[in-house]
This record gives sequence, structure tokens and C-alpha cells, in this order.
Amino acid sequence: MKRISAMLITAVLTVLFCIIPGQCETTTDYPSLKEAYEGKFDIGTAISQQTLVDMKLREIIIRQFSIITAGNEMKPQSLLDITKCAELAREDETAVAVRFTGAKLILDFAQKNGLKVHGHTLLWHEQTPEAFFHEGYDTKKALASREIMLGRMENYIREVMAWTEERYPGVIVSWDVVNEAIHDNTGWLRKSNWYKTVGEDYVARAFEFARKYAADGVLLYYNDYNTAYPGKLNGIVKLLEQLIAEGNIDGYGFQMHHKVGSPSMDMITRAVERIAGLGIRLRVSELDIGINSKSETNLNNQKAMYKAIMKLMLRFSDQTEAVQVWGLTDDSSWRAGTYPLIFDNFRKPKPAFYGMLEAAEEQN
Ligand code: G3I
Repeated sequence: MKRISAMLITAVLTVLFCIIPGQCETTTDYPSLKEAYEGKFDIGTAISQQTLVDMKLREIIIRQFSIITAGNEMKPQSLLDITKCAELAREDETAVAVRFTGAKLILDFAQKNGLKVHGHTLLWHEQTPEAFFHEGYDTKKALASREIMLGRMENYIREVMAWTEERYPGVIVSWDVVNEAIHDNTGWLRKSNWYKTVGEDYVARAFEFARKYAADGVLLYYNDYNTAYPGKLNGIVKLLEQLIAEGNIDGYGFQMHHKVGSPSMDMITRAVERIAGLGIRLRVSELDIGINSKSETNLNNQKAMYKAIMKLMLRFSDQTEAVQVWGLTDDSSWRAGTYPLIFDNFRKPKPAFYGMLEAAEEQN
């Protein structure tokens, strides 16, 4: 509620600013990132249903980006209809019911405006109803068996892929099949509900089902954060090697939720080089870089890090599918207190935006 009020106030202030000549840029007053990166890789952003209510943000998305991701609307929590699942479970414990209320708005917008969609995310330990993992879809009952959960996993992946491909053919070009499976401290699989019910091979099984039901050409990704930290990187590489051996994975998504200087560009570079060495496709799936305050120095350091990351990914442009920022304006970010994005609260491009742009221009 607080965030919605803040966004409304910002929208009103923006309108007031915009009636003063020279105080408000229109969306065509500055270059387009997707044009600057054309022929190299896609430039994308995460959006939400709320983003689409704002006409100026819609214009910015269409002009700046070639691919979008739903920040929340295509996660299991949003897609699973648990009440209906529980009804169906009386006949078949593996039956799964899905609904696409929020996702539909985002997919419609993408389809109408010729934008690609990167699907996020089929399996995750968060934002998945606890009931999904229990017998009868009832949290008061025991965790479901491996057999039931493999059935639900297959049915969920099939339902989601079939529904989206039938109504929006070709719009979803890639999927995060599994998100954040590796634990930061142990460097190996976290003991999530998926792990507890299915076991060690749950990630591999998810990729197997995703490959079975994905339309031809749809790329399948494993997506994780803190990739630059050596302990976690080792675990991610070990998992990727197992998945590559089974032949169902296409790529790795580096989330890159960073702070200026942390992790260092050296660490980020080593991680990208190591995963690129596995020969799979790459994407930066959720880029944002936090700063403590909006001082000129901080904004310029933020710009420098955005630029350095883009230069790094340009070195691997043959393997890279996309770089996606995780949201549009600072005030709508999940890390709003750290001003981590490339547009400010008044929907104006920040120095960070120009950092991304300059990296492409200097490459040409
Ligand atoms: O939809 C409810 C709304 O009805 C309610 O009024 C409001 C009250 O706070 O909450 C809304 O739900 C929030 C939801 O975002 C939509 O705004 C949840 O509380 C909030 O927890 C949720 O946060 C999301 C977070 O994932 C959950 O872990 C962020 O928006 C989303 O950007 C973030 O995205 C993740 C990626 O999926 C995976 N990588 C990390 C990244 C950042 O956490």
C-alpha cells in the first residue's frame, strides 16, 4: 500500500514536472538500448502488472527493450490454483490446475508489441505454495511421495508450457526451469521441499520434463545468484556439468544482484569466464546494482559497474542471449532503498543507463 502511494505521488509529480518545458524528457529524447545492442544480444527488463498501468513506462519498455520477464506473475505461487488442485487430487494425486490471471496481461502486452518473453520460473523453493508439496494439497497431511511429486512436476510443466504456447505461440523464447537450487553456505543443493520429496535428481528431472514439453527452439536455463563467490560457483558448475551430461539444458542465468564494488569485477569476470567455458548459452537475468545514496560519486560508480558488466558480456556476445535489468525505476525495485536500476523515480534515464549505452557504442 505504502509503495503504491509512493508510486502515485511520483506519477503526479512527474506530470507536474512535465508541464515545465525542459524538465521532462520524452521517451524518444534519448537513445534506445535495444537498438544499440541490436545484432549482439537482447536487452530486457522485469515488469509487473502494475508497470503496465503506467503509459509512460509502457512506452519506455517498447522503445528500450526487446525481451521482458514477469517479476512475479509466472511463478508457481501465481500460476497454481491450489483449491482446484485439491479438488482434483481426490481422483488423482498428481493432477495440477493452473490459471494465468496476471501472466495473461504481460503476455498480451508482449505479443501485441512484438516483445519476446523469458519465462520465470518453473521450479523454485520460494513463491511456491507449501500445499503443493503435501498429500491432498493439504499442509496438515504428510509431504507427498517422490512418485506423486514427479507426477505433479511433469503435469505442472506440461500445463504451463501447453497453455502459453497455444495462446502465445513463439512469444516465450526461454524459461528458467529451476531457480536458486544451490545453497550459499553448503555450495550444494539446498534442502528444499523439492529436494525432500523428489531427491537429488529433482533438478535433472525438471529439465527432462521441460525439454519434453517445450516448443522447438525454446531455451532452457538454470538461474542463480551469488555466482561470483567461489564456494557457490563450484556448486553451480558441478550441477551444470551434470545437467549438460544429460543433454536437456541450454544455458545459465547470472542474476547479478550486486552492490557497487561487491563482488569485485575480477570475481564477476572469473565466474562468467568459467561458466562460459562450459560451452552453454549465457544470460544476465536479473541485473541491479545498489548504492548507499544518490550522490554524484555513487551514481557515477554505479554507471561504471553497469558499463563494466556490459563490456564483459559483450566479450561473450556469441554465447549471450540477453542482459535483463530487474525492474525499471528505482522506486519500483525490490531493493528500492538502494537505487539499483537504470531509470530514476521520475522515469528519467540515470548515468547507469548511459553506462550500458556507452559499452555498446564503444564496441562499434
Ligand atoms: O502481491 C502482494 C500484494 O497483494 C500485497 O499487497 C503486497 C504487500 O507487501 O505483497 C505483494 O506481494 C509481494 C510481491 O513481491 C509482489 O510485489 C511479496 O510480498 C514480495 O515478497 C514479492 O517479492 C518478490 C520476490 O522475488 C519474492 O522473493 C519481488 O517482487 C521479486 O522481484 C523477487 O524476484 C526474485 C526473483 O524471482 C529470483 N531472484 C531474486 C529476485 C529478488 O528477490
